[in-house]
Amino acid sequence: MSTRSLFRRLKTLAAGLLALIVLHQTLARLLSKTLRRRMQVPAPAPLGRLLDSAFRRRLQPEEDMVRRCGIKKGMRVLDLGCGSGAFTLAMAKQVGEKGEVVALDLQPKMLKSLQRKLQQPQNHRWQKIIHTSVGAAQALPLPSESVNACCLISVLQEVPRREQALSEVYRVLKQGGVLAVSEFVIDPDYALPHTTMRLGEQAGFIVEAVEGKPWNYTVRFRKPQNIEGG
Ligand SMILES: C[S@@+](CC[C@H](N)C(=O)[O-])C[C@H]1O[C@@H](n2cnc3c(N)ncnc32)[C@H](O)[C@@H]1O
Repeated sequence: MSTRSLFRRLKTLAAGLLALIVLHQTLARLLSKTLRRRMQVPAPAPLGRLLDSAFRRRLQPEEDMVRRCGIKKGMRVLDLGCGSGAFTLAMAKQVGEKGEVVALDLQPKMLKSLQRKLQQPQNHRWQKIIHTSVGAAQALPLPSESVNACCLISVLQEVPRREQALSEVYRVLKQGGVLAVSEFVIDPDYALPHTTMRLGEQAGFIVEAVEGKPWNYTVRFRKPQNIEGG
């Protein structure tokens, strides 16, 4: 095969892939809009199984996602919109026994799946580290400057008042704390990296890094440190 025909084939393949993504996004957005209107919830709880599946893990390995979020030993982390806890246990492993993970979600049914997972004998040791909480991103039930990191994985675009939610995250984060926002194109609420960056910056955060690929990425922000007398 000549270089030119290989190039042409690659171009066709890329165009096909792009068309598939656009088609998927259009159909998935329509379907999720209809479902949400009917069920009155952001992401129906039965979706929890798919979110916490081996298939998802292959596309978004836990260790990779936790690393992207900038989670370190001993941190107090907020897994905001944790869902069925697809990444919560991996966060707990990362913070270790001296750390804590607050797994917060709007839907008690989602948290039940995580609690069931924590009841399994092999997960008992994480019970001391993971604390589940029902709550809304727009009014976080946490004191100001009480967490080191906050992760929103496929959540931000589901929140109706995103600015209010980000201002709440800003409030509960310690100075110099990390906000990590991850988006994945399979999610009907997927947003492009520049949209996520703009939202974070408008809330006062500073972009530290963008990791992954545009279709499966994490933007890591920092809450600025207050410089006294500056
Ligand atoms: C697509 S799921 C992602 C769950 C999990 N982060 C994951 O990646 O598997 C979005 C989750 O965000 C939660 N959520 C949506 N809006 C929320 C809000 N305003 N406050 C708290 N949680 C919210 C939903 O209940 C749902 O569990």
